[in-house]
Amino acid sequence: MKWQTGKRDNPQACRDQDLGKFEITNRDGQARLGKIHTKHGIVQTPCLLPVINPNIRTIEPREMWDKYGIEAVITNSYVIWKHDKLKKIAMSKGVHALLDYPGMVMTDSGTFQSYVYGDVDVGIEEIVKFQEKIGVDVATILDIFTRPDMTYSQVEDAVNETIKRGEKSVVISDNLMLNGPIQGGIYPELRAKSAKGMSELNFSIHPIGGIVPVMEKQKYTQLAKIMLASKSNLTPNRPVHMFGCGHPMLFPMLVAMGADLFDSAAYALFARDGRLLTPWGTEKLSELEEWPIIMPSVSSFSPSEVREMSREDRTMLISKFNLEVTLQELSRCRQAIRSGTIWRLAEKRSHEHPALREAFLWLTTNPSKSKIEPLILDETNASQETGQEQGRWEENWDWLVNAQSTPRNGGEPWGGNDTLNRPHIEMARRKLRSRWRSQKNGDVILFYGTTPPWRDKIGDLVDRLAETEHEIFVQTPLGILPFGLEDLNPWAHIEGPNWLEKTKPDFGLVQEELGLLGITGRKLIPIDISNTDDIHNRVFEILSIEPREKSSETRKRTQIIDKLCVLYNLSYQDATKICKDSSFVMSRTGRIRNVIDSYGNHLFSPRLGEGGLSLTLEGAKKIHALRKRGPPVGFNQDNSGLHAGEGPPWIVVDSDAEPFVRKGRNVMHGFVSACDVWTRPGETVIIVNEKAELIAIGRAQATPTEFESFTKGIAVKVREGHP
Ligand code: GUN
Repeated sequence: MKWQTGKRDNPQACRDQDLGKFEITNRDGQARLGKIHTKHGIVQTPCLLPVINPNIRTIEPREMWDKYGIEAVITNSYVIWKHDKLKKIAMSKGVHALLDYPGMVMTDSGTFQSYVYGDVDVGIEEIVKFQEKIGVDVATILDIFTRPDMTYSQVEDAVNETIKRGEKSVVISDNLMLNGPIQGGIYPELRAKSAKGMSELNFSIHPIGGIVPVMEKQKYTQLAKIMLASKSNLTPNRPVHMFGCGHPMLFPMLVAMGADLFDSAAYALFARDGRLLTPWGTEKLSELEEWPIIMPSVSSFSPSEVREMSREDRTMLISKFNLEVTLQELSRCRQAIRSGTIWRLAEKRSHEHPALREAFLWLTTNPSKSKIEPLILDETNASQETGQEQGRWEENWDWLVNAQSTPRNGGEPWGGNDTLNRPHIEMARRKLRSRWRSQKNGDVILFYGTTPPWRDKIGDLVDRLAETEHEIFVQTPLGILPFGLEDLNPWAHIEGPNWLEKTKPDFGLVQEELGLLGITGRKLIPIDISNTDDIHNRVFEILSIEPREKSSETRKRTQIIDKLCVLYNLSYQDATKICKDSSFVMSRTGRIRNVIDSYGNHLFSPRLGEGGLSLTLEGAKKIHALRKRGPPVGFNQDNSGLHAGEGPPWIVVDSDAEPFVRKGRNVMHGFVSACDVWTRPGETVIIVNEKAELIAIGRAQATPTEFESFTKGIAVKVREGHP
């Protein structure tokens, strides 16, 4: 979306049948780019809804549309309802005319006013009906605000009452998109309860409520806990809105956890106090000699010139600066989702504020290692700083990890120890540890002390060891890696200082890692290859065996078998069977280009970029025929485990879609009738019809719960149909 000076066309209404639907167009783990279909346009997410105070307008909503291309705003229906003049205009001309804004208008209900001022004097159904009458696109029910100082039972009552109000509200609003806020204070259990209860009702969007005081006190660890407990229990096919969250510093972390919408009054409120929002915190105009970032609104003024302006002009200018910075950070988040780097952006931002860093570390490391108290359910302790039980952290961490796709393209920049805790790296590790198994019985050789590509340094040597019983590993900055996978991302693509790969391994840790790969009780022989002079003789001497001839054929076969197991989830038996009669077409640089079966069919092609393996239709036919378990039924919610050895996941497509998918068209949500529980976004999947016949291969775009709940968007990107 570009910023411009002239007028912008009004939005087009979505198709009638799409009203209220949400689709994902791109993702990076749980972070998603999406589209919300409304009568006033299709809104791209993640996005910011600036708060419009109908009484005090700073930047005009029309300017937000025309100049900044802002596709949605939020205002307060209770404020309009209370104010005779505003109410009259809204009732007769509609809220879009009242605001002079053509895009999506969301309204809040008065709940926040009841939190700030005490009770509100409007009825539960009355405020929903009012929002419908004034033509809003998304209305909000009158939920009960849950404050951090409330006791467990007070919060539980509020959660139950909010669900009851939700039930009453959804039945009276047929064609109206409704916000169903998630409450639950600082109690993860109650957040989960609220999320599950509200998911059952016919809402379009779920805001996370009751977080304003948490953010005001900069309790970002609590915010992260609230977000995870809420989001991981919500139906995934609805956008999630962070109520009252407008500080750009928080966006990357929340987007990484699946936040889709933000609203900001901060851009105007902070401007009134002469404070500037930046992605790394807040700065005071009074202390600035130069701008921390030059945004269009301030580019022709210096901070001192702005200080000299009238209060009104100054507030307007700083509001624009704040809005521009906020929009820009969301652009950055969206771009990071496209490039698969949202977690790294969150990681970078976590260094901007100690409380944000604490939250980030809580997210990525077990809380038993941090100093956060366990959750106390005792009412008397309710106002204390509370944490989460370890079990819940693990569930949440699994939820984040399970949505990650791996292997990925491109380098993996080293960011210190944080690197080890990136969720997609954890996913890669889980695949390796659950699917790779040693096929040899001998000692373990660990080569260490040098940078990839390891094949250039010791490929010939490994060829000579290929027929021995030695199991060979290389040491990488992410841990040990079987040599058959030596070019696999992320292990082989760490971009960092040279000393990383050259550091002597901690052999205690290596033994632990070997244990996790199923290797115990074997001798470990570490060999430093920082200097490869005379390496062949040296190694045979260390091993006390006679030098061997090269067997590059065996090494190549091991490489393909290891990849079929780790990347396609085949059992070693099946992978070996497939490879037994295969031959290899080699590239000029000596790497495998294609794997061909004995009939000349092309089965697989290694991808040199990230060490992956592309599957052809012929390869898929072989794998399809090897499946032992029956086709999946429904969308079993047990997402745990990767079902090692059971092959790539199957997706069952219904008969309406079959002819299109066979022709190579993508599988759309709504046409998938079942999928295996180990389906993950980014994984190559085998697409079958209701008779379990292979009809195509493709790449899954969703998790099983998402396959079950989404009705719009691409479910599987088809690579090749089977006509
Ligand atoms: N605005 C900020 N927080 C909340 C909340 O919890 N509920 C509603 N309805 N609006 C809010």
